[in-house]
Amino acid sequence: MENEVLEKAFQDKIDSGIVIEPKDWMPDRYRKQLIRMMSQHAHSEVVGMLPEGNWITRAPSLMRKLILLAKVQDEAGHGLYIYSGTETLGVMRKDLVADLHSGKAKYSSIFNYPTLTWADMGSIGWLVDGAAIVNQTMLAKCSYGPYSRAMIRICKEENFHNKQGYEILATLMKGTPEQRAMAQESINRFWWPALMMFGPSDKDSPNSGELIRWKVKKQSNDELRQRFIDRSVEQATAIGLTLPDPDLKYNEVTGHYDFGPINWEEFYNVIKGNGPCNKQRLKARRDADSNGKWVRDAAEAYASKHN
Ligand code: 3HC
Repeated sequence: MENEVLEKAFQDKIDSGIVIEPKDWMPDRYRKQLIRMMSQHAHSEVVGMLPEGNWITRAPSLMRKLILLAKVQDEAGHGLYIYSGTETLGVMRKDLVADLHSGKAKYSSIFNYPTLTWADMGSIGWLVDGAAIVNQTMLAKCSYGPYSRAMIRICKEENFHNKQGYEILATLMKGTPEQRAMAQESINRFWWPALMMFGPSDKDSPNSGELIRWKVKKQSNDELRQRFIDRSVEQATAIGLTLPDPDLKYNEVTGHYDFGPINWEEFYNVIKGNGPCNKQRLKARRDADSNGKWVRDAAEAYASKHN
């Protein structure tokens, strides 16, 4: 009986837009859902450094190298920020990271695709960070205080990431025929995996119901995906890129772009661990963890001596 009273009071707080803070009572399920979602978001930020890190030493100019370095460092900070937010729910960061390394926890499917050309740095900034902005501006208004506040800070940096990616592509599209072809080929590879970042369609999303009821998600997977498509079509046209979907067509009735079918078999294959780079990404994270153990041990030894 008492739990029902507590759950009703909690839902009333959510419905009236009150932000939930770490010390507030919350249903175990709310806590569990946030730990799952926030930790996987943090994992995505950290694993997301790998595809771009692949091009830091091969950037075409010192300026491009500086910008890419800054972006990758930002992603590391986003990961640490969101891990800290997840820890307010009573979990240890080392346990979350262990779940990533064991393959138990997920991270965004998009980071399991290879970065084959410099133009991919543009596609990641424009499409991947663009999709992240659409998702994260929603999460900046979510019901859990530490998560929404983390998103406000992170969205500011995502906007820089998005603009620098779009500028890379715009520059290539004003370049030689080979540079234009490189930009178009990159978009052809990244467009559909970027749409999959928003998750399965609403009818196949087991978590969305609860997350929407608890105002963690304020829009559904499909609504956010549609918003991302609508803004991307016009931006692509503006720099002469063609999005690789022959079914893309403005619908005068709905005011949105209709688009072709998403390959959900590919999506579930990638999130099951069978994407082009899943094994490589997890190995890189496990290697980094073991190679960095001495730093953690030294920091803990110092802390135990000086606290
Ligand atoms: N990649 C990997 N797993 C995915 C996924 C994707 N693109 N989309 C969905 N999934 C998983 C979910 O985690 C869930 O599995 P689980 O229950 O074992 O965790 C399952 O597929 C079913 O999906 P649901 O729609 O039911 O799951 P959610 O309601 O959690 O929605 C989500 C999925 C939209 C990714 C949501 O979790 C979310 O908004 N997460 C926070 C944002 C985030 O993680 N973004 C990732 C990119 S971060 C990034 O790009 C940073 C940028 O700076 C580079």
